[in-house]
Amino acid sequence: MKPVISATGLWTPPESVTNAELVESFNAWADRWNAEHEADIAAGLVEAKTHSSVEFIEKASGIKSRYVVDKSGVTDPALMRPVIPERSNEEISILAEIAVKAARQALERAGRDPKDVDAVICAASNMQRAYPAMAIEVQEALGIEGFSFDMNVACSSATFGIQTAADFVRAGHAKSVLMVNPEITSGHLNWTDRDSHFIFGDVATAVLVEDESIAPKDHWKILGTQLKTKFSNNIRNNFGFLNRADPSGEGAPDKLFVQEGRKVFKEVVPMVSEMIITELDRLSLKPEQLRRLWLHQANANMNRLISSKVLGHEASDDESPTVLDEYANTSSAGSIIAFHKHSADFKPGERGLICSFGAGYSVGAVFVEKAG
Ligand code: COA
Repeated sequence: MKPVISATGLWTPPESVTNAELVESFNAWADRWNAEHEADIAAGLVEAKTHSSVEFIEKASGIKSRYVVDKSGVTDPALMRPVIPERSNEEISILAEIAVKAARQALERAGRDPKDVDAVICAASNMQRAYPAMAIEVQEALGIEGFSFDMNVACSSATFGIQTAADFVRAGHAKSVLMVNPEITSGHLNWTDRDSHFIFGDVATAVLVEDESIAPKDHWKILGTQLKTKFSNNIRNNFGFLNRADPSGEGAPDKLFVQEGRKVFKEVVPMVSEMIITELDRLSLKPEQLRRLWLHQANANMNRLISSKVLGHEASDDESPTVLDEYANTSSAGSIIAFHKHSADFKPGERGLICSFGAGYSVGAVFVEKAG
């Protein structure tokens, strides 16, 4: 059994928020907050909120806009969160629904009937609930037999999911594994935190990992995969079933996404580049044999540094494409969006790297070669 990538799928929400729109609503929220806390600010009990800036966001991160499932809620200074009505148990959950949309595209591109898929892995940072697994809900919605489960490795979930799927194929447990990454990151983002309110966006991606014998002709060979984790508190979200307090940005900020962005930048860049260089060596590949790096989309400056360390020169847009400007950080889906949107020009025999990194810390690398 030889695992390959048969196809990918992408679902993008229809609504997008520009940096200018985001900053306008943040600043309006900050002005309101300052007015409400005027006396405490004057008495020196609390610090006044400072305005955010479009220029800072673009320069510090490379992000220009983000897609969201609910634009009106996240840009309403009185709300500053997405408003997503709860659904009954009889309806499909929103995360499963968007995963199914991305999955259908991947299945269609591979010419695969859902009946012939053996397993579904939902690999994402932001889960709908503890159980039943979203993956089983996706399995049910698509009419897939076999087994399914959820896994969460934060921003690295997709690459960890690809290796897990590939291992099932190698072991003979499955011939066709659908791996989905629905991310409604807008639900765990603290829209009132100036340091991070611009970071995330919503999306869903899907990757179909199959045995070479059943894959379409123009599949992607998986040359090698490598995963690594190392504990760090620098990216954290404490929300969980043991602390059910309603998480509002103000009352319980640690129940939403929090990070030490500077530390993450400094610590993760060497971890990622060292892993890629070691893995290249193990696969007897030279950096110049990689036509493209589809890197995790968290920060454009971070990706510039990683690609420089790996390639020995600053990567061109062709060598390391960016989707972050349009999509922002979509957690586990980022490197898969880059791969999905920027791989059609590959010729048989050309190689590339899908690489993700994030909370944990976690790093995952999947080296691929275009077949045909
Ligand atoms: N608007 C204007 N100014 C802002 C701002 C905003 N929205 N947010 C922060 N600033 C200010 C800070 O207050 C600080 O001011 P000071 O120098 O007067 O203290 C200055 O800008 C620099 O802030 P800093 O947080 O050090 O910025 P940065 O250059 O490190 O960029 C990140 C911030 C988050 C974009 C960057 O650190 C990053 O992307 N890190 C990696 C994050 C990552 O990959 N996380 C993984 C998530 S999965």
